[in-house]
Amino acid sequence: MTSPIRTERHDDVLVIISNNPPVNALGAAVRQGLEAAVKDGIADDSVTAMVIRCDGRTFFAGADITEFGKEMVEPGLPTVVDMIEASSKPVVAAIHGTALGGGCEVTLGCHYRVAVPSAKIGTPEVKLGLLPGAGGTQRIPRIAGVRLALEMTAKGDPISAKKALDAGLIDKIVGEDSLEADAIAFAREIATKRPLPRASEKTAQADPDAVAAFKTENARRFRNFDAPAANIACVEKAADGSSFADGIAFEREQFMALMMGVQSAAQRHIFFAERQAAKIDDVPADTKLREIKRVGVIGAGTMGGGISMNFLSAGIPVTIVEMQQDALDRGTGVVRKNYEATAAKGRMKPEQVEQAMGALKPTLDFADLAECDLIIEAVYETMEVKKDIFTRLDAIAKPGAILASNTSYLNIDEIAACTKRPEDVVGMHFFSPANVMKLLEVVRGDKTADDVLATVMALAKKIKKVAVVAGVTYGFIGNRMLMPRQVEATKLLLEGASPEQIDKVHVAFGMPMGPFQMSDLAGVDIGWHRDPSRIENIRDALAAENRWGQKTKAGFYDYDEKRTPSNSPRVTEIIDDFRAKSGVTPRAISDEEIVVRTLYTMVNEGALILEEGKAQRASDVDVVWIYGYGWPVYRGGPMFWAQSEGLAKVVAGLEKYDFPVAKSLKDAAESGGRLK
Ligand code: 3HC
Repeated sequence: MTSPIRTERHDDVLVIISNNPPVNALGAAVRQGLEAAVKDGIADDSVTAMVIRCDGRTFFAGADITEFGKEMVEPGLPTVVDMIEASSKPVVAAIHGTALGGGCEVTLGCHYRVAVPSAKIGTPEVKLGLLPGAGGTQRIPRIAGVRLALEMTAKGDPISAKKALDAGLIDKIVGEDSLEADAIAFAREIATKRPLPRASEKTAQADPDAVAAFKTENARRFRNFDAPAANIACVEKAADGSSFADGIAFEREQFMALMMGVQSAAQRHIFFAERQAAKIDDVPADTKLREIKRVGVIGAGTMGGGISMNFLSAGIPVTIVEMQQDALDRGTGVVRKNYEATAAKGRMKPEQVEQAMGALKPTLDFADLAECDLIIEAVYETMEVKKDIFTRLDAIAKPGAILASNTSYLNIDEIAACTKRPEDVVGMHFFSPANVMKLLEVVRGDKTADDVLATVMALAKKIKKVAVVAGVTYGFIGNRMLMPRQVEATKLLLEGASPEQIDKVHVAFGMPMGPFQMSDLAGVDIGWHRDPSRIENIRDALAAENRWGQKTKAGFYDYDEKRTPSNSPRVTEIIDDFRAKSGVTPRAISDEEIVVRTLYTMVNEGALILEEGKAQRASDVDVVWIYGYGWPVYRGGPMFWAQSEGLAKVVAGLEKYDFPVAKSLKDAAESGGRLK
């Protein structure tokens, strides 16, 4: 097998080049090749300096994550980084693309670093539940100080070449199109300079105030995660006067503990699950896509406005249609306000706001949609309204235009059937707020054409969404799984639990909110029959009293002006009253029962969805829950979590409470297999 590492001589400079597509991950062959090439450079008297660079779209994007959990093939990355640093001849890293994780650590082992202006440097291991385990936690603070090291390692966002230059992580920014030549010239300049700058020989200044402030600022973000604290502890170790060797030993110990833990396994699962979700099993990857130059959005409400922003932000013009001028003005006003708020936070330039707004064409004329290549309907959630709109769309949309509905429950096939082009119809279920939430459920109808599906999936990536293909089923993947949870939560109330107890179990689990907090946010009246005299369950009883949630300042909780919730004595009365009328004597409900009946039941529904072929794979279900509903990423999504709980335990729990168990779940539990 040929090595992914080759070398080229430029007189006295040895250029070591990696070619390991797609992202130059530092797999075993790359590490072996690097070690051998650097050794050769050191041994060859005619070489005065070395340059390490990568072919393709990026510098090393990190360790090869697919090797994690398998037996380690020598040399390990720390060994390679240390031997580069120990070289008696200078080694220069020439960086383009993203030098991430182990890739960043390779650069820190080098004595010098040059980068093109567009390069980014970072240590995103924390997002995989890990820490930079090849000396990164010890070298970054020694070069760039504790504060930046905390930011880079515990939060994991990459920094620009300019910021890296200011922090000393890069020595020079070179020409965007002349990286190799400039790096060679740089290597010649410093070839004879001694002593060689070695990060491990520097000292880092302790900064307890920065550490304390950083922990406070990020307490919410880091809640329940193991890896941020481990990153912080390592950075502190680098600056507490310990030797470099002791710091490295500590880093290794922490790294291995994280690597063996369930959180990192869950986060690594999601890394690959997210990428897998983009693939459509029975549609070839090279399917010719339709061109989307302009998008139409029907409805300028919260959803329509949010959807439009995704495209505007990606530079795709949008035609937005409403029926009344005031609704149109209100909608476009909200879009502008949102952009201006982003600009006020410094995350957008004022001219970018104008650019985005300039690409938005508000209109009252439905016929204006004729110029659009993709039209997304985001109006009231009733089948009649949707059918009416799609019939009208069919009459005016240009041939080949994709017609999408943002419905969150309804049958796409039924909607498609009222057009003469059902093959062009697809569901695009955005999650609210649509400009923020990353998930997009792409609903594939019976007749949806392959190229329509492929186009929408590719477009999703362009607008920075994580898209998952769902089949036609009531509520698709996410909302369908929400249903048993909601039903069981309401039953538990009747049997003796309180909304607070149930919500507390969910928040402790890591969800952003529990089922009743979610009801209050979404509206207790959603799906209500709107007849105050008909009280069939506790939700009806609340709705009948105008307790519709946050919007009426009362729901399962009471709310003050700032929407701060408090427990409601009235809700307790309503529940007591309903129990009495139903002849139910309340009993103590354990937290364990809540977990089984509101979380295991979701897993069960997920298994049914998979059995019915409404999701392509179990990991897609996980992606839906992570990106659409805030399922804690360190638990890897419901299906991964069930696996780590033990499927037999899940099945036993469901059976204990007489819940009908999905066949695939039972089979997998019995055979010791996985949910697929
Ligand atoms: N190991 C193995 N495979 C990787 C990988 C890695 N580090 N990084 C990316 N890939 C794979 C992806 O799974 C994907 O595979 P697929 O085509 O089969 O689905 C392919 O490379 C392309 O990746 P993306 O679709 O993500 O490509 P983008 O261009 O959108 O993004 C990127 C490129 C920014 C480099 C992004 O892939 C990324 O963030 N990668 C992970 C970076 C990372 O986390 N590095 C740290 C690794 S842990 C480590 O280094 C430990 C060390 O400290 C000891």
